[in-house]
Amino acid sequence: MSNQNPNPNKDNEVSSPPLLEVRQLKKFFPIQKGLLSRKVGEVKAVDNVSFKLQEGQTLGLVGESGCGKTTVGRCILRLLEPTSGQIFFRGQDITNCDSNTLRSLRREIQIIFQDPYSSLNPRKTVSNLIGEALLVHGMVDNEKEKNDRVKELLNKVGLSSTYLNRYPHEFSGGQRQRIGIARAIAVNPSVIVCDESVSALDVSVQAQVLNLLMDLKEEMGLSYIFIAHDLSVVKHISDNIGVMYLGQMVEISSSKQLFTQPKHPYTRALLSALPKPFPGRKVERILLQGDVPTPINPPPGCYFSTRCPEVLAICKEIEPAMKWAAANHLCKCHLVDDRRQSNSGPPTGGERRRMDLFPKSKPDQIIEL
Ligand SMILES: Nc1ncnc2c1ncn2[C@@H]1O[C@H](COP(=O)(O)OP(=O)(O)OP(=O)(O)O)[C@@H](O)[C@H]1O
Ligand code: SF4
Ligand SMILES: [Mg+2]
Repeated sequence: MSNQNPNPNKDNEVSSPPLLEVRQLKKFFPIQKGLLSRKVGEVKAVDNVSFKLQEGQTLGLVGESGCGKTTVGRCILRLLEPTSGQIFFRGQDITNCDSNTLRSLRREIQIIFQDPYSSLNPRKTVSNLIGEALLVHGMVDNEKEKNDRVKELLNKVGLSSTYLNRYPHEFSGGQRQRIGIARAIAVNPSVIVCDESVSALDVSVQAQVLNLLMDLKEEMGLSYIFIAHDLSVVKHISDNIGVMYLGQMVEISSSKQLFTQPKHPYTRALLSALPKPFPGRKVERILLQGDVPTPINPPPGCYFSTRCPEVLAICKEIEPAMKWAAANHLCKCHLVDDRRQSNSGPPTGGERRRMDLFPKSKPDQIIEL
């Protein structure tokens, strides 16, 4: 086994831990009924999700509505208690951290929501919306310092510093999202979870806000988890992309590989639905039959088996393991040969380093680190 499944770290490379690591994360919401609130079932919103985010990188998280993207983001921010699994930040297990660690974590990991209108308190001025966190985290000492810093932040996100005393309803959707961005970067975070942050904007405004996020990433050394249901939005800004289906990660790879060599039938179906960059080139649209099953009672075997155009008999009985389809490319499907079990030989040094971005796979079990 060890010959076939070489340890990616065996050449004693000293590598720093990833900025953020999620290991076998599960979040099940109980369903309660009756006067005594008896538990009658659970919604498997996130079901065994693992990934790593390296410093300065962007991980795109995509998948249909209800597949668990937001729940993953909220668990990372510790707004939700995971049912099981672990979350590491700079190598430290933060899953059950104390209140002091949690306070500093709240500064390090920020979120930008989809709808800036409902996420900005309509009764607060821009100065308070952006400056509040500066005071909470002791980053400014008085009102003047706060306002000076807010003016700087407004300029940084492309807004006039004269907007200091305006209220959210006095702005357009794109401007409001810029205020949300200013609020997120105010406390110099390391990671920002962007939850559908551009989905509600017009296409041209979407491009402007995406460009702003990318400029800030360079300038401030930020890392993003970029959640979107639209693959074309994450394509150009993500280093790696994870595809989720019914609470599970089904494929994760570099953005380029996912678009050029998708391995999972679900990813291929999502890609076939995108507008074509070369109208002359024919790519057949894969229409998925049936509805997404309920996360209360997912199907046995592969969760995608009820809709998969390539389903096999085994798929309805045995859950596929997450396997290495190639270097830097994991896929949870019976059709994929584990790259490290195949005849293609052990990965090269460069491949090993890239593989280390993601957890190791084992052939007969669900992903285990
Ligand atoms: N507090 C909750 N209680 C019970 N079920 C929940 C709760 N929050 C989310 N869910 C369920 O968990 C599943 C995943 O929800 P989540 O919001 O994470 O999906 P999503 O991928 O972000 O969807 P969307 O693209 O529509 O935002 C859904 O079935 C949802 O109904
Ligand atoms: S395991 Fe089977 S059902 Fe699931 S995606 Fe692969 S081929 Fe389709
Ligand atoms: Mg969501």
